[in-house]
Amino acid sequence: MTARIIDGNALSTEVRGQLATRAAALKEKGITPCLAVILVGEDPASAVYVRNKVAACEKAGMLSLRDVYAPDIDPSVVFARIAELNADPSVHGILVQLPLPKNFDAEAVLESISPEKDVDGFHAENVGALMQGNPRFIPCTPYGVMKMLESANVPLKGAEVVIVGRSNIVGKPMAMLLLAQSCTVTICHSQSKDLAFHTRRADILVAAVGRAKMITGDMIKPGATVIDVGINRTPEGKLCGDVDFESAKEVAGAITPVPGGVGPMTITMLLANTLEAAERTQTRCAK
Ligand code: GUN
Repeated sequence: MTARIIDGNALSTEVRGQLATRAAALKEKGITPCLAVILVGEDPASAVYVRNKVAACEKAGMLSLRDVYAPDIDPSVVFARIAELNADPSVHGILVQLPLPKNFDAEAVLESISPEKDVDGFHAENVGALMQGNPRFIPCTPYGVMKMLESANVPLKGAEVVIVGRSNIVGKPMAMLLLAQSCTVTICHSQSKDLAFHTRRADILVAAVGRAKMITGDMIKPGATVIDVGINRTPEGKLCGDVDFESAKEVAGAITPVPGGVGPMTITMLLANTLEAAERTQTRCAK
């Protein structure tokens, strides 16, 4: 049996259409959602992600600002720019693309973003709110995964979930969201003993480690839902996920492809968070 494909491109198109309608309605009221994106350095993958985020904003009828800094810029310049964007009422969302160069204190940079504009959901205040089950902004990649599970009608209550990867961006917030839906969640990582023992128990397997094709078909429970968050390149330069798609699709019940799976949904949920931030300013003004 070959797995059902959970198509992130198709779902993105549908959700972005709904967001564009909401953005247009807000524009009618004189508010155009605006996302500010800051990129420091010349990491080629980060440059592509930032370009895609800016293009997606424009396509959805939202504004975007892009600040690009050289890798050796003094961090104080970036802090000053964030303070300016925090104070600008026409800017609703602020995103600093990660990773930052080594001379930056990434945590301090994330904490300097106003929590009300932290559309990545990485500020400690927003991480805490998510942990307490009352999120202000849900980090975009796990948010996109939740939308994909919902659209594919994957049962969550009581499901055994195994997440491979414990990053602040994906693994940890993903665990919180699935726990809130009454899943039984296991987080595995580079020091986990016998990874396959865990992954073979999973009704839902989320791979978010950043290692090309490390999850193979023999590590998957027959019929499981496999979510591949990885974006890697093969030695030949082809995009691939953390899951070996060819062997996994013969065992899984449903699977997300790379490209065209989680990636487009991450950007879609960034647009959703930016729009939400803009809509909240309207509520605040009305009070
Ligand atoms: N780098 C990789 N993923 C992300 C993300 O979701 N947000 C930001 N800001 N940087 C990233």
